[in-house]
Amino acid sequence: MPAFTQEMYAELDKVIMSLKGQEGAVMRSLQGAQDIFGCVTKDIQTRIAEGLNVPLAEVYGVATFYSQFSLEARGQYIIGVCMGTACYVKGSKAVLEKVSETLATPVGKTTSDGLFTIRDTRCLGACGLAPVMMINDDVYGRLTPDKVPGILASYQK
Ligand code: FES
Repeated sequence: MPAFTQEMYAELDKVIMSLKGQEGAVMRSLQGAQDIFGCVTKDIQTRIAEGLNVPLAEVYGVATFYSQFSLEARGQYIIGVCMGTACYVKGSKAVLEKVSETLATPVGKTTSDGLFTIRDTRCLGACGLAPVMMINDDVYGRLTPDKVPGILASYQK
């Protein structure tokens, strides 16, 4: 899991304290947490519930209702393999499977070391390079599954 620092928790506590007792405190605390951590995991929701002195179910309800909140920690690198039509017909599914197999992690999940999150995406707007994969802001085109391990290894230094 990605490391969350004491400073991040201290910042969250400050946000919680500043909102305690106010209208919309749960929503705004979750927004603050999402900004600080990039997600609102169960631990973070619990901290908000305790800090605001509201039931965890209420925090969970808000966190799961709005798609802006990511309930799982994300990896340092987000891998997006394009499943748009142009990429799909050129074999992006096999590329995605190779990513998943190489990292021993299912699509949609984060590697246990917190380094990568694997996603399938819609058209990335680079169809001329199909099949395309992005790792954060880096674009890789004309991929074949055998190129995948070398690309991933270059992020694992
Ligand atoms: S379909 Fe993959 S980049 Fe457009």
